[in-house]
Amino acid sequence: MRAFHRIDALRAYRQSVGRVAFVPTMGNLHEGHLALMRAAREHADTVIASVFVNRLQFGPEEDFERYPRTLRADGEKLAEAGADALFAPDEAELYPEPQTCFVDPPDLQHLLEGEFRPGHFRGVATVVLKLFNCVHPQVALFGKKDYQQWMLIRLMTRQLALPIEIAGMETVRAPDGLALSSRNAYLSPAERAEAPRLYRTLCKLKEAVLHEGVKQCAALQEEARQSLDKHGWKTDYLAVRQCSNLQAPTSATQKLVIVAAARLGATRLIDNLEIG
Ligand code: PAF
Repeated sequence: MRAFHRIDALRAYRQSVGRVAFVPTMGNLHEGHLALMRAAREHADTVIASVFVNRLQFGPEEDFERYPRTLRADGEKLAEAGADALFAPDEAELYPEPQTCFVDPPDLQHLLEGEFRPGHFRGVATVVLKLFNCVHPQVALFGKKDYQQWMLIRLMTRQLALPIEIAGMETVRAPDGLALSSRNAYLSPAERAEAPRLYRTLCKLKEAVLHEGVKQCAALQEEARQSLDKHGWKTDYLAVRQCSNLQAPTSATQKLVIVAAARLGATRLIDNLEIG
């Protein structure tokens, strides 16, 4: 596997390969990322991954400084997973001057995650567009665990007419249901044992919505939130929303998704579950 730290070297390599599938990451790779790499291989002959911890998408009180940086191990995992190239720029390479041009996604950026992480999606959209401009992929793959991110990237790509297909991959879970995430590494053993409750709560809420109907959503989601909070969680949001726009449902025929973010101790976990 080739590794590039400079944009010009990556671009020179890019010219020598054909169709590219791209998997952007912030590193500390786990099985969820590696599943994306394997899926990427089905889309193109050349698979390029990036590892870059993007300061722009972290709030001032968030975990940018302590976000796990494991580039050497990431490189080994990518090579094993069959990636052809790794793009791992440092901050000076990707942001050689203070970034003053941003991609400001539409209102969707202010809902849910956006309400609790102001500016987060502006930082994500900006770096993703920049990475797209470095890699020039034909297809890019994102995990649906970050459901709102996946929606915003699709919207940005469509509205800015980027010639890139955006693929969303199902969330990869531990055997006990916990969605794989680099932030799971922050959990203490006791928190790790408690963490699967988030997914169990989503599954239970899904069954309740299917059984009792969309009109009961507000009451059912409140019950679900209370049951999490009773077990020591601090729930930022836990909501049944329309898949198409993440607004509250307005009819029984809409395709729905339950989205949630909750804190266990100092760790904030997110998850989601599509209904129907
Ligand atoms: O999902 C992530 O890991 C990040 O938000 C991304 C897409 C790599 C942008 O920094």
